[in-house]
Amino acid sequence: MTEQTRRTFLKQAALSTAAVLAYPSSRVLGANDRVRIGVIGVGDRGNDLLDQVRKVSGVQLVAMADVYSRRRDQAKSKVPGIQTFSDYRPLLDMKDIDGVIVASPLHIHSRHFLDTLAAGKDLYAEKTMTWSIPEAEKCLAAAKAPGRVVQIGLQHQSSGALADAKQWIKDGWVGKVTHVESWMSRNTPHGNGQWVRPVPSDCTAQNVDWSAFLNGRPDRPFDAFKLINWRLFWEFSGGNCAENMVHQIAWIMTALDLPLPSAAYMSGGVFSEKDGREVPDTIAVTLDFPKDIVVTWQSTFSNKHYELGDRILGSDGTLEHHFDEPLEYWPEKVNRDAESTKGHSHDQDHMKNWIDCLRSRGTPNAPAEIGYRSAIAVHMANLSYKKKQRITLEEARGIAPGY
Ligand SMILES: NC(=O)c1ccc[n+]([C@@H]2O[C@H](COP(=O)([O-])OP(=O)(O)OC[C@H]3O[C@@H](n4cnc5c(N)ncnc54)[C@H](O)[C@@H]3O)[C@@H](O)[C@H]2O)c1
Repeated sequence: MTEQTRRTFLKQAALSTAAVLAYPSSRVLGANDRVRIGVIGVGDRGNDLLDQVRKVSGVQLVAMADVYSRRRDQAKSKVPGIQTFSDYRPLLDMKDIDGVIVASPLHIHSRHFLDTLAAGKDLYAEKTMTWSIPEAEKCLAAAKAPGRVVQIGLQHQSSGALADAKQWIKDGWVGKVTHVESWMSRNTPHGNGQWVRPVPSDCTAQNVDWSAFLNGRPDRPFDAFKLINWRLFWEFSGGNCAENMVHQIAWIMTALDLPLPSAAYMSGGVFSEKDGREVPDTIAVTLDFPKDIVVTWQSTFSNKHYELGDRILGSDGTLEHHFDEPLEYWPEKVNRDAESTKGHSHDQDHMKNWIDCLRSRGTPNAPAEIGYRSAIAVHMANLSYKKKQRITLEEARGIAPGY
């Protein structure tokens, strides 16, 4: 992207903030009012979120929108009386919807994000916040407008392990941190590619609004495999950095209060899942941060022995984090005379945290700001991979999004 184009993007971001300032305000919810929720994109994750939100008391699920008829039929059988739409816009026009959950594929996130806020609704938006850096700038600007409650689907921001990490770092248990190592690994039986989903027989051009799915990507005949397996292709996906690194990098950034990375390098390739996918299955990312900290993240789809974790390595102690397990602490005896210990804080319900904030107008555990910082880290890593070179923040901001 040229400097001129970058300035145009920033100007557009500023304009969209100005537009949001004029948007309708949210309904004021009394303590006994039911919170009315709509969902856009009810595939695998949308269904999980639908189940999660129905468990929160005082919530009514009133509408959903999905381009694929099968998803609408599934939602109707699950939630009697729910209104269903193929197009998400009539859902956003419903005056009595307070909040909208977005779980569409990555390349449509920013459209659904911006239009939901423009319609005066609060928002729960799945990670990664956006498909590109310019989209992330626009969404952050829109979310900053007063009166909007935005939660990003980075549920580990609500974990007890993060609360413990922040406290122990603040209390000086860890000392100076210059390196964080993190990893995520999976495996599947031979012949079954990671992430590959079977295409249902009713996934046909008649049952899907294909052009709405494409969302401005070059037009082409209906492709059921790509609709179902969008994750495998750059034009719709951000690969495993967007699917999984984002959770861990957001967690690490919050624990250590890290700003945007100053540079990124990512190597790897399609080494194990040679099934026509574009996004790499084997990844090593290095993120440099201005505070003299290097964060590494590595991932493979052909060995899951070490599963997933993060280690914050400090001069006075080590924090080890495995998702869904209590945080562990070991002192560096050379600098700190203390016992090793395990975390005790409980996880919060990330969905309930959002609903509580709809009522209180408070800030949720994963606001757009951490959605933005983690998205930029993801995109810097992917841009470095595509360019096959180390990339700085400034360089990443200057590259036009492409696939
Ligand atoms: N937070 C988490 O732990 C977590 C876990 C899994 C997935 N996710 C995220 O959730 C999102 C969805 O992932 P998924 O696995 O559910 O994908 P999916 O393909 O199963 O579901 C996406 C749904 O969106 C629908 N859709 C496509 N285009 C649409 C449009 N223009 N308007 C409305 N609906 C449209 C599809 O028909 C499909 O039903 C992704 O961003 C993914 O990264 C988050």
